[in-house]
Amino acid sequence: MKLDVDRKRLVSEIEALASISDGEAPAVTRIVFTPTDLKARAWLRTRCEEAGLAVRWDAVGNTFARWAGSDPAAAAVGTGSHIDAIPNAGKYDGVVGVLGGLEAIRALQRSGFRPKHSIELLVFTSEEPTRFGIGCLGSRLLSGSLSPEAAGRLADDEGKSIDEVRGGAGLRGELADVKLADGYYKAFVELHIEQGPLLERAQTSLGIVKSIAAPASLRISIEGSGGHAGGVLMPDREDALCAAAELILAIENAARSSGATDTVATVGVCEVFPGAVNSIPSRVGLTLDIRDTYLARRDGAMQAIERASRDIAAKRQVLIQSELVNADAPADCALEVRAALAESCREHGLPFLEMVSRAYHDSLFISRIAPTGMLFIPCRNGYSHRPDEYARPEDIARGTLVLAEALAKLSS
Ligand code: GLV
Ligand code: MN
Ligand code: MN
Repeated sequence: MKLDVDRKRLVSEIEALASISDGEAPAVTRIVFTPTDLKARAWLRTRCEEAGLAVRWDAVGNTFARWAGSDPAAAAVGTGSHIDAIPNAGKYDGVVGVLGGLEAIRALQRSGFRPKHSIELLVFTSEEPTRFGIGCLGSRLLSGSLSPEAAGRLADDEGKSIDEVRGGAGLRGELADVKLADGYYKAFVELHIEQGPLLERAQTSLGIVKSIAAPASLRISIEGSGGHAGGVLMPDREDALCAAAELILAIENAARSSGATDTVATVGVCEVFPGAVNSIPSRVGLTLDIRDTYLARRDGAMQAIERASRDIAAKRQVLIQSELVNADAPADCALEVRAALAESCREHGLPFLEMVSRAYHDSLFISRIAPTGMLFIPCRNGYSHRPDEYARPEDIARGTLVLAEALAKLSS
């Protein structure tokens, strides 16, 4: 089998998809179920149909594009990622796995290969938590990791429920029907940019993921007391933003002092009410994103943050409440998928590193229902979730080649 990846076409498709954005280039912003996201989905559907794939989607908009195998009743081999992008993001996060997956299928078709097991490109809905506050919405539902009832209670910042939003996007059917049947996938492989600097530092184009770190996130609200910025004297203040400032530093400290550099914690949102220059902040909303490769250590850091928040609340006479959005376990990648990827690298004479994924991915959840693996390619300086995110065409093409080879092995 002679596999040729059409690098030029793949790069031009990445550029074309990046142009469907609510951010000003080079930034990409594509929030789930906005008109822009729907336009991107329609564009992608046409690309899949041009490749002769049968396209279907479920009630939450996860999209499946299938190349039927010679045994269509056999469990499929899946590949894919997401095309939603956080505000002010880059072009490659998720997109490389979707368009690379599509090109891997086309390369296999051109080579004359015929799979026994169907090969399916899967585009997950809302990997990013931007709109509904929870990441990997589509894959959580596909894997049964989020109940349809809990998903049904999700709403966006405007108070629109998920049913309202998906209905507006033309999606019908029940969230309860999104969960995949047992054994639906024989294997699943996701190609993704590393979103860290290790491959680039090692001057290696490919990374085979051993495990995916455990993410958790919380919404924190702090209620103090507002008032006139001139009139209220310092001893009398219950300033919610000052309490937030202390809590943010306590969060940083909990991650820094966990005993391992694998613990990372981020406060990415800080909303201040009323937000006026001469008014003491009475209310603050924060988000906390905390992750680790080792679950007990992440949970230990979360407990340290909880203790700090009780101390700060008592000292500053404010009310601090937190709501757990998710606390997920880490995932181990399946040995058979790792082996298929490693063998594919070796056959093409391509060195690879074995590594941990510190970002989460839909594969974290798909690994609960199918043998799952991930293949990483480098991104410049490890930058991701920012407009200057960049992956070199040669690395994208190499990742796509190895993905195609691995899909061939897994689907034979
Ligand atoms: C996914 O985008 C993540 O935040 O890890
Ligand atoms: Mn992302
Ligand atoms: Mn991603």
